[in-house]
Formats: sequence, structure tokens, C-alpha cells
Amino acid sequence: MLKQKILVIGAALLLSGNIAKAQSTVWLDQLDLSVATQGHGKPGINTSVDGKPLTIAGEVFKRGFGTHAESSILIKLNGKVKNFSALVGIDDEIKGQNPAAEFEIYGDNKKLWSSGVMKLGDKAKPVNISLQGVNQLELVVTDGGNGPYYDHANWVNAKFETADGAKLVTFNPIASEPYILTPKPGPKPKINSATVYGVRPGSPFLFRVAASGERPMTFSAKNLPQGLTIDAQTGIITGNINTKGTYEVVLSAKNAKGSVSKKLKIESGDKIALTPTMGWNSWNAFGHEVSADKVKRAADALVKSGLVNHGWNYINIDDSWQFNRDGKDPSYQGKMRDENGYILTNSKFPDMKGLTDYFHSLGLKAGIYSSPGPWTCGGCAGSYGYEKQDAESYAKWGFDYLKYDWCSYGGVLDGLPYNDANKVSSLNFSGGGDLDKGVKPFKLMGDLLKNQPRDIVYNLCQYGMGDVWKWGDNANAESWRTTNDITDTWASVKNIALAQDKAAPYAKPGNWNDPDMLVVGVVGWGNPHQSKLKPDEQYLHISLWSIFSAPLLIGCDLEKLDDFTLNLLTNDEVIAVNQDALGKQGVVKQSIGEFRIYVKDLEDGSKAVAFANFGREKVNMSYKDFKQLGISGKQTVRDLWRQKDIAKINTSNQSLALDIPAHGVAYYKFISTK
Ligand code: GLA
Repeated sequence: MLKQKILVIGAALLLSGNIAKAQSTVWLDQLDLSVATQGHGKPGINTSVDGKPLTIAGEVFKRGFGTHAESSILIKLNGKVKNFSALVGIDDEIKGQNPAAEFEIYGDNKKLWSSGVMKLGDKAKPVNISLQGVNQLELVVTDGGNGPYYDHANWVNAKFETADGAKLVTFNPIASEPYILTPKPGPKPKINSATVYGVRPGSPFLFRVAASGERPMTFSAKNLPQGLTIDAQTGIITGNINTKGTYEVVLSAKNAKGSVSKKLKIESGDKIALTPTMGWNSWNAFGHEVSADKVKRAADALVKSGLVNHGWNYINIDDSWQFNRDGKDPSYQGKMRDENGYILTNSKFPDMKGLTDYFHSLGLKAGIYSSPGPWTCGGCAGSYGYEKQDAESYAKWGFDYLKYDWCSYGGVLDGLPYNDANKVSSLNFSGGGDLDKGVKPFKLMGDLLKNQPRDIVYNLCQYGMGDVWKWGDNANAESWRTTNDITDTWASVKNIALAQDKAAPYAKPGNWNDPDMLVVGVVGWGNPHQSKLKPDEQYLHISLWSIFSAPLLIGCDLEKLDDFTLNLLTNDEVIAVNQDALGKQGVVKQSIGEFRIYVKDLEDGSKAVAFANFGREKVNMSYKDFKQLGISGKQTVRDLWRQKDIAKINTSNQSLALDIPAHGVAYYKFISTK
């Protein structure tokens, strides 16, 4: 579906001597700007991105395009345009912030002009370039090197001088057709669960064998430790292990087409989450519009879509199950806690225990959300002062996972103004990077969770402040967010991806860096829309989160899964790299401009390699620098997305052909061969 609008330009006749020349001016704001991609907000037509008059360094402009980095708009010129001129600059509306952005113009993928980095208050800079012979123009705003925050960027007085009858068409590369690379799982049984699972002695055990293949299917398990049983029909293992120890279990699955076995190592000990969490979280899909009914339907869809057969098994409720301080919706307002300080759920969650019982009956786990501050980011009741009661409630209700989000805790450090929690803002980051103060609230909840009679995987959400990856383990956490919130834009995914390497050495079984949830499928934080990432960008996103050993939390509406999204989320070879028992995080081993090569060591001695192209031009090369990647000798190269061996090469003297689209990836596994 190429979304496009054609503007046919009426030609004005200009007489020059005796020759009639057709020439016309087309303003950028006359084109369909709605197809632009940008980091935040909607394209402003003759307004700033916030809908205000276009203003640069005190000067107001009537015409132009108000956008937000990272921004791109593509225009088909078909060689008919002579010239483009404009003024560019940062809009004054973000006073008090520190934006920086660079305006760039590309013609047929070659850079024609750049503004250099521009800051707030810089006078509008003129551009006037010839476009003779150019077929496709791209107007870009990059983040100026300091992240895309507050980069409100304006192209003003922007216009084209065209030849007679020229058609200018803006188009949206995101709308390019999705393409499926992975073959559908076959009818024979195949067990896709991770090879290792951790539990604390005495905690309720719940493990659903993930297996694809035709149904009906029956399940069995050999050498299960005492206290555990498997349900032959569902493949759900339950019970308790009361002693510490390592148990080598053999799982089997059988259907009319055959049978299969796979080893599972159960580690009964101190560590849980021995592989990254895989599941779904309500936030990116529903935002504050979440309800028990919606998460229940998500659980049903997880099972019905078959996602559960590939290892997806957590259903996590994010913000807004509690009462809200200022919610307009009456269902959010009420008494927040009972007389003993135990938190009350809002009317959209009338029966938490019933809800988790339902998830558990499907072999799924349940997750919940809170803040160490008095308020969550969305203004709901947080845990401050009631940590003990909250930890007990989560356990009593049957939760298996807690996301604990800084939000208002800075207000606590500031001394709860007027000693009144109500005066504390829901977002206050002060002190978050200060180890003396910023660790304490997380450790407090971590200790409480560990004392509960069930395993509760603990996820810290404080956006990476104070290098959380260095101390998260001491706070008894299993995973921690490393960055700010993700959105479904290329700039967001790229910036988050590029920020992961520093935390990588701290990833290990039971300790995972969390670059935030997945933004594929229908997302929208309550305003549903298809992810704005291009298909190539989505392949890159999932490949990187796989090689990062990131917790994989789907953020889309599971009732609206399309074939493309399902294919992205059910490739067992891509998932197996993420769930590999060695628990290493892939890191960049080589950068060639914006082309980065990530390598992750796997338990069986093979290596996963993501050839990730963050640039806007395709990468086409014969690659032979294998030494840089730590790869040597004869190798079988397997394409993980296509699930097929694509080459056998001697890496000491042969090369590998790479052809990777802009913002795309080749995700391979290198297996040593004789
Ligand atoms: C923060 C978190 C998000 C989400 C919201 C809920 O922004 O980073 O992931 O939990 O709060 O309000």
C-alpha cells in the first residue's frame, strides 16, 4: 500500500524572448506531509510540531513543515525539479531545553547538503540547491548527536522550482510491503523451550513445555525430580522441589506425525530467570486503558495464536491496575489502600487472584507493576511506605513478576514537599543516579520479594540511571531497563540499540539488560496503530533484541496479530539465540560507518552474528574480516531468519557476500565444521 498523494502543478507560462518556458513554484507545505516519519508528534503543516506558529530565533514564518528529529520525508521528483530552497532551524517552542539537530538533504541517496548541528536560538539557515536530474529527494533531520529529545525542527519557506507539468509525490517507505522469511513450523512435534530453568526450593513450580506441531499432542518427562508432575495433555509441569540441586530432565512430545525429545536442566537453587523473560506486557498496546478483561484476552490470544508454543509465557500487567490520584475515569478513583495499608485494585481489576489463577491454568505466568515512589508514572498509587504490604499482596495474588518503576521516587529524595505525598509529582528523576540514594528503594523491594513464598522475577525500571547494570544483581533483580521508553520509530529503536554495549558485560543467567519492550504489531499506548517501523527495521529490531539476550516482551495487541508480526515472533532459531543457556549478550565487534557487526557466543561453541545496517544506504560487500569477529577456520553459515544453511566457507581465505538493505539486517549463525 504505497500511500501517496500526487500534486500536479499547473504550469505558469513565462516568456523569455520568443521561447515559452513553463515554470512553477511548489511549496513543501502543499505536498502530503502526513507520510513523513518523525520521532515524536504529527507533521506540522505551516505549524510547529506542537501546532504553534513556526518560530526560529524569534522570527515567525507563515509557511513550512514543523517536524521532530529523527525525521524523514521522501519526495519523488522524477528529474523534473530544478531547485529547492528553504530556511531551517530549531523551533523556539522548546525553551529551557537543550535540543540539537542537523538538517540534511539527500538526492538519490547521496548527501547534497547539510546544515551542520543547529541549536536552540540559532538564526534560520538558508539552503538553495539545484536538483537537476534528481529522481528522489529525502529531507532528513537527525538528532545532532545528543539524542532526539526536544528536537523540534522546522523547514520554513521551503519550495521547489519545477518544470512544466511536474508531479511531486511524497511517499512513505514504511508502508513498503512486509515480507515473510521464515518457513512455517512443520506438523511434526518440535520442542522449543529453553534448555535450562531455575526455581527456588519450595516455590510453586510452573513450566509449560513449548512445542510446535500438529495437535493433539501428548507430553511426558523422564527423570522429573520428586514433587513435580507433568500433565500429559497440556505439557504443563507443576509441583514443588524442596531441595537444592540440578536435575537433568528429558521432555518428550508426541503426535500423529512423530515424536521428539529434548533435555531440560532444572536448577533448584538461588537463581531464577536463567534465560531472558519472554511474554507480553500491556503498556505498549493499551497504556492506561488496560483492564482485566483485556489482559485475559491477551492470555487467550497468546495460546490461540500459537505464540505459547515458541516459549512466550508471561502476561504482565503494567500501570493502571491501581487507583489513580487524578484519573477522570471514575473506575480509577477510590480508596487506594485498606486500613492495614494493603493496596486495593481499581474496578477494572476486580479479582486479581482469579486472574492469575486463570493465567496459571494455561501454564502462563503473571506480572504486575508498581513504583518505589508514592505514585507510578501514570499517577496511580505506588508502593512508597507500603513496600511490605505490596510484596505480600503480589505473592498472595499469585504474581510471578514485578516491574518496579522509579517514576515519583525523586520526590521522596527531595523530602516529600510539605511532607505530603500528594504534592509529589508523578515523575521526578532527581537522585536516581546517586548510588547512596538511588539503590535503596530497589534493594528494599528486592529483599521483600525474595522472602515471599513464591518466585517473583524482579525487573527494575529506572531507565539506566547510575549504571543500574552494575548493581541490579545486588538489589536481587533479574533484569533492569537500560534506557528511556521505547517508541515505534526508527530513531527510538536505533538510539536504544546503539546504547546497549556498555551494559553487555553484566548480562548473565539471572541478570539481563532490558532495552524495553518490542514495538512490532499493533501498538499505540491506547491509540492503536500498526508499528511505524518498516519491515526491514522490524527484522533488525527483533534480531538485535535476540542477540542482546534482552527480555522479550511483546507490546502489541495480540488479538490483532498479522502473519508478518507472527512470523517475526515465532522463529525458533532467532528465539533460541536469545534463550541460549550460556547467557552472554552480543556486542559490536566491528563498525564500518553505520554498519555494525554484533557477535554473541553460544553454549554449543557456535556464534550468532547480526550484520546490522543502521545507515540509510544499502550494504553490498564481500566480507572477509572474520578475525575481527573471533571467527576462524571452516564454517557453515546459517541464515537464522530463513532457517537455512547458505554457505560453507573457509573463513581464513574466503569471503561472504553481504547484501543488506538500509536499516536492515542479516542474522546468521556460524558453526565450525571440519
Ligand atoms: C514508564 C515506563 C513505561 C511504563 C510507564 C507506565 O514510562 O518506562 O514502560 O511502565 O511508565 O506509566
